[in-house]
Amino acid sequence: MQKASREFREKPLRLIQITDTHLYRDPRAVLLGLNTHESFEKIVDLIARTRGTPDVIVGTGDIAQDASRESYQRFAEIVSRLNAPFYWIPGNHDNRKVMLALTDYPNAFDTQLIFGNWQILMLDTSSPGNVHGVLSDAELARLQQQLSQLPAGVQHSMICLHHNPVPGTASWMSDIGLKNADAMLAILKQYPATVRAVVYGHIHQTLDFEHEGFRFFCTPSTCIQFKPYVEEFALDMLAPAYRWFDLYADGRLETAVERLQDYVIKVDMNAGGY
Ligand SMILES: [Fe+2]
Repeated sequence: MQKASREFREKPLRLIQITDTHLYRDPRAVLLGLNTHESFEKIVDLIARTRGTPDVIVGTGDIAQDASRESYQRFAEIVSRLNAPFYWIPGNHDNRKVMLALTDYPNAFDTQLIFGNWQILMLDTSSPGNVHGVLSDAELARLQQQLSQLPAGVQHSMICLHHNPVPGTASWMSDIGLKNADAMLAILKQYPATVRAVVYGHIHQTLDFEHEGFRFFCTPSTCIQFKPYVEEFALDMLAPAYRWFDLYADGRLETAVERLQDYVIKVDMNAGGY
């Protein structure tokens, strides 16, 4: 387990969540009609224009659609334009080994990020060969340990993962979430004083809600979006997006999803899946 650290500061920590970029080896490739490289690059430009230099960036999985080394390399290079450290976790489309092989970014897989009195815990829910997610016994044990023995000075915790630990808002999503979410929740419930947010992607939509006493945030993709409240898979005509968080020393947080403006959405509305 590695740790990142940063001096405590009075102003809020600005964290950026980028998720489900679905990049391909070929930057001209499209996902259901949308060029994922182009939309991701536009999102990074938008962050630079509107958020200045953030303190930290988390990429919460489905970084690549094709698990290619070139996709991960391009993600790392483009996100590095923001001049902030980035950390990532794999999603169902990713290959952890290929990501780990990018030796130019040795800290990107740090799992416990410490900034002032906040810790950001990065959980790997990927389950090779499956669309759904699972937290291994080792990941659950690590979560338990990192919440029960807070590092010196840490009071507040944010949990980041790829898969949704609470069912998504469309019927077809019922089998693709985190299978053992109950085991994670059972651990979180032991530490209500420190857990401030559970943050994820995977279901390509905006959610901000309370569940079992905790705040949950789902962030839309930097490419295609999934339509809520439908039976069968359907795309939503919403622009690519990212989420920012401002984390305060007293445990408060502010957050919003920001979308590309004036973006012409070109997607295959007849797509039956992704
Ligand atoms: Fe995704």
